[in-house]
Amino acid sequence: MVRCLREAGGNPGRSGHRLSIEAARVVFDAREAVARLIGAPDSRQVVFTGNATEALNLAIAGVLEPGAHVITTSMEHNSVARPLRYLESQGVGLSVIQTGPAGRVDPGAVARAMRPETRLVAMTHASNVIGTVQPVEEVARACRERGVLFLVDAAQTAGCYPIDVAAAGIDLLAFTGHKSLLGPPGTGGLYVREGVTLRPLERGGTGSRSELDMQPDFLPDQLESGTPNFVGLAGLGAGVGVVLEGGVEAIRGREEGLARKLRDGLRAIDGVTVYGPDDDRHGRTVPEVGVVSFNLDGVEPSDVGYILDSEYGVLCRVGLHCAPWAHRTIGTYPRGTVRLSLGFHSTAADVAHVLGAVGEMAAEARRGAKR
Ligand SMILES: Cc1ncc(COP(=O)(O)O)c(C=O)c1O
Repeated sequence: MVRCLREAGGNPGRSGHRLSIEAARVVFDAREAVARLIGAPDSRQVVFTGNATEALNLAIAGVLEPGAHVITTSMEHNSVARPLRYLESQGVGLSVIQTGPAGRVDPGAVARAMRPETRLVAMTHASNVIGTVQPVEEVARACRERGVLFLVDAAQTAGCYPIDVAAAGIDLLAFTGHKSLLGPPGTGGLYVREGVTLRPLERGGTGSRSELDMQPDFLPDQLESGTPNFVGLAGLGAGVGVVLEGGVEAIRGREEGLARKLRDGLRAIDGVTVYGPDDDRHGRTVPEVGVVSFNLDGVEPSDVGYILDSEYGVLCRVGLHCAPWAHRTIGTYPRGTVRLSLGFHSTAADVAHVLGAVGEMAAEARRGAKR
């Protein structure tokens, strides 16, 4: 990103001078890297936005209008829940598929909720509260059979769980830069399948077809107006490069192993409740990403978070994680949980350290309860 500012500080796609051309190359490289990572047939189908929230709003508002019907799930982040609740107040029909406490969506329930006016199914790929991975391929199939568009919120999976939009039949996929894509905050985007047309959220300068009064009708320009955050995109491109080099399957395997150790270790501590995916009712393991939510008996999540930070150097997020629906679903609303997130740089030593810390805190809480 520093090199980008020093050597490529022109406005991408706006001028013919070398700094502008270099900046355009940075954006192009980032677009190509993301396209490769998610299996997009053409990088022009990757539209950059400021974050996953903007990408989700672009997809949702770009498809739905009053009279249409949309289906979503009880495990959504507010970046899906709030735009949909707003549109509901404007005359869009909304069905929310309820899951059990493991957070796994039943694709049959999604299919059964479809109506003739259903335009969109919008759902998260993996929960940011408990890590449950959703059966997106099966939901995609149901959508395809009925001509319904399928939007996937991949904020919690892009970079740490395999995604192939073309093979899975996903029409729209939102991602954020600041999680497993190893990019900086303030980057993200939306994959748009060829043939899907969205109403832009904004219209304006694109550096292309400047003679026209109307927004260009081709991607990504149709949905990308104004100067892009190309310094951020330099970071995003570099981050995705690291992911591609490491290989998502390998990253996934490592993270899955660490997450299992963390979940099992927390479950073994007296006084700790771990939420989320366990075995499904057929005895199969429900896939999950490295996001683990727990509570400690007799201690508020905020106090657990404070002690973990101040006494053990463990940084976590406590509360509702911008996902009150998910907390209602798992039974932790309004108190919330303590959430630990594993990432590319997490190690077995980190897991052992946090397990030791929570073990000590649980022992202290038990002593306090006896007094
Ligand atoms: C599942 C999920 N969706 C959407 C978002 C929103 O992402 P962003 O902060 O990039 O808008 C997040 C971020 O925390 C998330 O976890």
